[in-house]
Amino acid sequence: ATQRLKLSVLGTGYLGATHAACMAELGFDVLGLDVDRAKIDTLSAGRVPFYEPGLEEVLVRNLAAGRLRFTSDYAEAAEFADVHFICVGTPQRADSNAADLSYVDAVVDSLAPLLTRPAVVIGKSTVPVGTAARVAARISALAPAGSAVEVGWSPEFLREGFGVQDTLAPNRIVIGTDSARVEEVMRSISATQIAQGIPFMVTDLQTAELVKVSANAFLATKISFINAMAEVSEAAGADVIKLAEALSYDDRIGGKFLGPGLGFGGGCLPKDIRAFMARADELGVEPALSFLREVDAINQRRRARTIDIARGLIGGSFAGRTVGVLGAAFKPNSDDIRDSPALDVAQTISSLGAHVTVYDPEALENAKRAHPDLNYAHSMLEAVRDAEVVLLLTEWAEFRDADPDELAKVVAETRIVDGRNALDPEHWRERGWIYRALGRP
Ligand code: UDX
Repeated sequence: ATQRLKLSVLGTGYLGATHAACMAELGFDVLGLDVDRAKIDTLSAGRVPFYEPGLEEVLVRNLAAGRLRFTSDYAEAAEFADVHFICVGTPQRADSNAADLSYVDAVVDSLAPLLTRPAVVIGKSTVPVGTAARVAARISALAPAGSAVEVGWSPEFLREGFGVQDTLAPNRIVIGTDSARVEEVMRSISATQIAQGIPFMVTDLQTAELVKVSANAFLATKISFINAMAEVSEAAGADVIKLAEALSYDDRIGGKFLGPGLGFGGGCLPKDIRAFMARADELGVEPALSFLREVDAINQRRRARTIDIARGLIGGSFAGRTVGVLGAAFKPNSDDIRDSPALDVAQTISSLGAHVTVYDPEALENAKRAHPDLNYAHSMLEAVRDAEVVLLLTEWAEFRDADPDELAKVVAETRIVDGRNALDPEHWRERGWIYRALGRP
């Protein structure tokens, strides 16, 4: 394309801020929009309002180059851009398992009436299948330019902590559309990736929506599969770590997402599988996804099991006991605590009467806001001071590399529950610790 496309990115959370900065990095002129002015001010000043390694450099570089700006004004976005990306969140509804589409609807209702000339709107948010067609109909009804505004859906697969690399070099690009112009626009936006040989697929709207939720359902299933094997291993006296390794050498299975432990959390996998089940129910194919109920249940049972192991180690009751918790984020290299298994476990143990102190390298501020009644420490050693049992619940490198002798000096009892199978049992036992893990003898 000889003329540089102008893009708007609507919503600047984890997905949108990363997408906006990376599109600018690819050379496009980008305007990011969010209704949260504080977020806009932070991003405009070159700061990322959440922990995402490498994003700040890309942000700062592209702000300085004049390719990237932020606004709260929809009129400015409508005026500026040829292509609008919808990047808002679709959390779980408060009253059901379904996805809350109010942010998607708000973007559509704010933008569409301002679209007076031809434009392309591309949804990236994770939505229940059927949403894109509804959004397309609503946009052509509301937009003064009518059918000159066309809609596509291109799901985003980025992992938190790897957002920049996953956006610049994704495993695949999928665009759902039945419009040749939308396909053409998406091809020119993706030219760099297509040139690198990254698969570029064109599908209908429904298939594109389904690709995202089925990918997440598969990943969640893989994690719960190995966690189910951990349950069986615990009962049978087998070692799920060895089992997972042996499975991983079968290249039809592979080793990724086969890590047994406390299970999955975060802003995507748990709510996406629940919304997927809710949608299947609406479509009249509820039995097709009823296995995801088991996937969810297996995942929840790992949290209960972790608590049981810890309770067993301190004599059967948490009342009045001192517990040190390592980790609050739902996974390492993130400050995200949405549906965090670590905080869920910490909160439950605290409500059972224990004195719980939590440390996390990046997620402390978010954790404090969501769980003000837990105690927080600013270092690993401070968190485990006087602890009668230590729980490792998020596998940060700092915890993997922890020195058992250093910890032994400050704890009351050398007992540890490794909720992420992150430590070497031999090493810790040699140093005098009672070491317990999920799925291992
Ligand atoms: C996920 C998908 O990977 C991504 O493609 C999608 O766009 C959004 O959802 P994310 O939520 O950032 O990304 O985290 P991910 O790295 O996938 O981890 C999800 C959860 O699974 C974490 O809680 C992690 O601890 C857990 N996990 C992962 C395991 O318990 N075992 C594993 O082997 C792998």
